[in-house]
Amino acid sequence: PRPIYLSRHGESEYNVAHRIGGDSPLSPQGRRFAQNLGRYVEGEVGEGEIRIWTSTLRRTIETARPLGRGTVEWRALDEIDAGDCDGMTYDEIRAAMPKEFEARSGDKFDYRYPRGESYRDVIRRLEPVIVELERERSPVLIIAHQAILRALYAYLMDKPPRDCPHLSVPLHTLVKLTPQTYGVMEERFELGP
Ligand code: G3H
Repeated sequence: PRPIYLSRHGESEYNVAHRIGGDSPLSPQGRRFAQNLGRYVEGEVGEGEIRIWTSTLRRTIETARPLGRGTVEWRALDEIDAGDCDGMTYDEIRAAMPKEFEARSGDKFDYRYPRGESYRDVIRRLEPVIVELERERSPVLIIAHQAILRALYAYLMDKPPRDCPHLSVPLHTLVKLTPQTYGVMEERFELGP
């Protein structure tokens, strides 16, 4: 049974500044994680096949680079669109748009950022990715973003979609999901610098 690997991009400059969204490059730590991920995957698959999917954002593309293999860039894997809040910190959102901040805390699944997306929207746009993932016979490594991976993880692990905004998908941690006769075996590897 072929495994599916999930990884967030390495730490980005925006992560360091606590800003959401954007299209910033990796931080030095993030680049080190990308190197570690590259070595790890090399050890796991060697000469074997693996499909590598990224979003269209710099931080995932830069994370895939040390793997030295072909990738497919999916727009459907781009991070949840924070709309008018893109590029802000959570503190700035709380100060400038307290009603929005409160609404999101009240219902993180259905809350839609002004001119942006909700988790429910994200799940809908991931459908073609999931169809392709089910069809693919080789191992797949998906390098994407926190909200996206929460949604994919919930789907693959059969968790209620409503829980997905609260799932833990930390930086610099590779999640390996291997289908078993019953259920899915999950392993997590911390590859932080
Ligand atoms: O930029 C978006 C974050 O990765 C998603 O985190 O949904 O917990 O605010 P959050």
